Amino acid sequence: MRLEDKVVIVTGGAKGIGRAYSLGVAAEGARVVVADIVDPKPTVTEIEARGGQALGVECDVSREADTLRLATETIARFGRIDVLGNNAALYGTLKRRSFMEIPVEEWDKVMAINLRGLFLCARAVFPAMKAQGKGTIINISSSTFFKGVPHYIHYTTSKGGVVGFTRSLARELGEFGIRVNAIAPGFTLSGENESNISEERKQENVRSRMLKRAEVPQDLVGTFVFLASDDSDFMTGQTLLVDGGGSVH
Ligand SMILES: NC(=O)c1ccc[n+]([C@@H]2O[C@H](COP(=O)([O-])OP(=O)(O)OC[C@H]3O[C@@H](n4cnc5c(N)ncnc54)[C@H](O)[C@@H]3O)[C@@H](O)[C@H]2O)c1
Repeated sequence: MRLEDKVVIVTGGAKGIGRAYSLGVAAEGARVVVADIVDPKPTVTEIEARGGQALGVECDVSREADTLRLATETIARFGRIDVLGNNAALYGTLKRRSFMEIPVEEWDKVMAINLRGLFLCARAVFPAMKAQGKGTIINISSSTFFKGVPHYIHYTTSKGGVVGFTRSLARELGEFGIRVNAIAPGFTLSGENESNISEERKQENVRSRMLKRAEVPQDLVGTFVFLASDDSDFMTGQTLLVDGGGSVH
């Protein structure tokens, strides 16, 4: 068990890829905090049914008070915070449209959840990680930033911001023994996003990869567990592309 007794928060952990991270770290012995704006109970119940320990916290990552409560409730239940998985984002429900058609309010909302959310969650867990002298933050970027995907410019821009945030925070937190890394997934069949893209574009995506198949949430779990575990103890500031070789950097 590579995460025995570690306490792992997964934001956006109730659905899609976040749910796969929650179940995946629990299978490696972690105690999991499933934080989401949608009901986290079904994922918590699933972890408990498999013999694991989990806590559900309803939390909007763009609201500072919610993120502070997330940290407090985690400490109250499990006594520490080893890993923050900054996975929540406005993504699957976003419409693809030209940059001229994106409402300004939607741009702001994407930035508030996809970037301010990371900032607030990192600040909320920092005191506990600093006191422990150790901790790991895993941010979720996207291959769309490396490819320059059109008709999603707010989303793509926010995911580029995640890379900058990761590098800068890693420089600030190294002295406290806190590592900060990111994962950039490729287009992954995760539920909500599947109706957003035509069959033809899905096939195009597969053809553009070195590994010629669709990506599924389970493809990302191994990398998340690796970054959460002590196996990656001397790695920080990095962004790992996990997209079947669809893009390189
Ligand atoms: N699926 C893909 O193709 C893909 C590719 C690259 C990167 N990603 C990234 O991976 C992560 C997960 O993707 P997904 O496909 O599962 O996305 P999704 O849209 O299906 O799920 C996002 C999760 O975040 C939660 N969430 C949304 N707003 C929130 C908020 N304000 N506070 C807390 N939780 C909130 C949602 O309820 C949901 O559980 C996201 O960061 C996404 O940008 C996904």
